[in-house]
Amino acid sequence: MSDYWSQYWRQGHLTSFGEDIADNYEGSLKNVWQGLFTGFNAQDRVLDIGTGNGALVSLIHNELEVANYPYISAVDLAEINVNQDVKDKSSKTEFIDYTNCEQLPFAQQSFSYVISQFGIEYSKLSLSLAQIAKVLKIGGKCQFVCHHPDSIIVKPNVAILKASIDLRSSKGGFTLLQELLVELYKNGRGSPKSEKLRAKLNKYIGTNIEKNNEAFQATNFPLLVKTIFQQMNDKLLQQKIIAQFKQELAGSIERLSDLSRAALSKDKLNTIKACCSKLGLEIENISTVYDEQDQILATKINLISNN
Ligand SMILES: C[S@@+](CC[C@H](N)C(=O)[O-])C[C@H]1O[C@@H](n2cnc3c(N)ncnc32)[C@H](O)[C@@H]1O
Repeated sequence: MSDYWSQYWRQGHLTSFGEDIADNYEGSLKNVWQGLFTGFNAQDRVLDIGTGNGALVSLIHNELEVANYPYISAVDLAEINVNQDVKDKSSKTEFIDYTNCEQLPFAQQSFSYVISQFGIEYSKLSLSLAQIAKVLKIGGKCQFVCHHPDSIIVKPNVAILKASIDLRSSKGGFTLLQELLVELYKNGRGSPKSEKLRAKLNKYIGTNIEKNNEAFQATNFPLLVKTIFQQMNDKLLQQKIIAQFKQELAGSIERLSDLSRAALSKDKLNTIKACCSKLGLEIENISTVYDEQDQILATKINLISNN
């Protein structure tokens, strides 16, 4: 995994949904935690995996009286940038970045609870579950809210990923645009080759708008084409814009590929079941989380340690 999460958290977001969820999680993604959080008490030690800028920690603080705040260790592989307000809420919370849940720096049986929202599924589950089995107390509980492959979060992003990968392919729009620019720089407008390339590019754009306009627009390629043709007199600026788009496209493909791989497919769920059975983690419940419109949001997993 690259450094895109560090860059993201540096911007100060609280949740992983940017401006779409600017405050904290609401609705089903909040409700799904309330039952668990109200069971916490002041002696409990809670481990939050893939905490980001501490959205779940903040939900815990909002849910409980100060006297009932548990000790929380909130870890993340990336560099995080937790808002001072969240940090100030409790001296019983430690945020530890650069920490991979496949190699947790905690003693055996340290925690009464392990929680994770859209975090643990990014790790190699055979390794992270083994670590969780190690650090969880006997009778300790886990709750994970993970990406579901058919959720309203993952599905549109997978469509954007496909459109983005296609742009870079040998017959893709970005390749065509670059070829067209080379031809225009060499022979000017109106050459047979540039006309052919222009026609191909227009066809490509039309086809993709028809196929999935929302995903195609989200790649920003239509905007790129418009900007490039508005700057026909400034070759240097055009090249700068092209280079920046190329970099952003590569970053987006990497991020969305990670998301798509993280989502709990049937195979990944089977891996979890097999690992849990080997590690003495009893599966209490696996269920689908829906939003108010009955659309899939996530998969929720509850485990208890029998070891
Ligand atoms: C989608 S964000 C979720 C953040 C937060 N839990 C939330 O709900 O807003 C996923 C986070 O998991 C972290 N992550 C990915 N792989 C990890 C690993 N192996 N160990 C710990 N954290 C990891 C990423 O760095 C990122 O901050």
